[in-house]
Amino acid sequence: MTRVPDNPDALVDLAIEIGRAAGRLIADGRRRGLTDVSSKSTPTDMVTEYDRLSERLIVDRILDARPDDGILGEEGSDHRGTSGIEWLIDPIDGTTNFLYGLAGFAVSIAARDADGPLVGAVVIPSVDEVFSARRGGGAFCNGRTVVCSRTDELGAALVATGFSYQPERRSRQAARVAAMIDRIRDIRRLGAAAPDLCYTASGRVDAYFEEHLNPWDLAAGEVIAREAGCRVGSLDGGLVHPGSVLVANPALFGPLVELIRSIDPSGA
Ligand code: IPD
Ligand code: CA
Ligand code: CA
Repeated sequence: MTRVPDNPDALVDLAIEIGRAAGRLIADGRRRGLTDVSSKSTPTDMVTEYDRLSERLIVDRILDARPDDGILGEEGSDHRGTSGIEWLIDPIDGTTNFLYGLAGFAVSIAARDADGPLVGAVVIPSVDEVFSARRGGGAFCNGRTVVCSRTDELGAALVATGFSYQPERRSRQAARVAAMIDRIRDIRRLGAAAPDLCYTASGRVDAYFEEHLNPWDLAAGEVIAREAGCRVGSLDGGLVHPGSVLVANPALFGPLVELIRSIDPSGA
């Protein structure tokens, strides 16, 4: 492959192209069947041969096109770069969905610079959707502009969330959801953080929150959500970081911070 320049449009095109190739690889693998499945951080945190094959494909292609960039990948890739651009990759986001043959798994690829997430692409192969954005350039699904919802009543808000693989964290997260369920329209637990962020960006849900994510879960969806007009922050209304993510349309962001604070007054 020829070298891809430092231009954000070229970087987002590269992320989309590589994400599509990885999406084809994992979707074909899912159809053929999985033979190598094991657990990682806890007995429910799974990894398959396709998580590793997808990461290898993505890393090889990025290094081919951008040999001086850094790369951090969920399945262990950790390349120091010299260009000032670092890629964050989740080769299969929603591995539990993938394992069970549920549709909601994705490939998430982002590049960031000194100012934060610069470009992102989230490929959802089972529905043939590609969400993408570059900083300052709007957000797209299959090339069409997406924008966040306009729901402005908390009681009408459809809110996505996710749960950590660690049992104690899951219990606390589930207790919070139980305490908020009668104040909102409903909860969705779709099983993949990057699509959750893209669905918030495109108004398919009104908001998404989760704690204890990793950088590769957040980076691509973060730039897509911001570019779609979402407000992006932490659960207490501060700056977003993978440990604490709240993304909502601007009308709902403040009310959700207040709701979460009323449930967890200590911020726990
Ligand atoms: C997980 C999914 C899930 C979220 C977890 C993530 P993985 O990523 O995004 O929806 O709730 O926090 O770890 O393990 O499927 O790549
Ligand atoms: Ca993930
Ligand atoms: Ca993953």
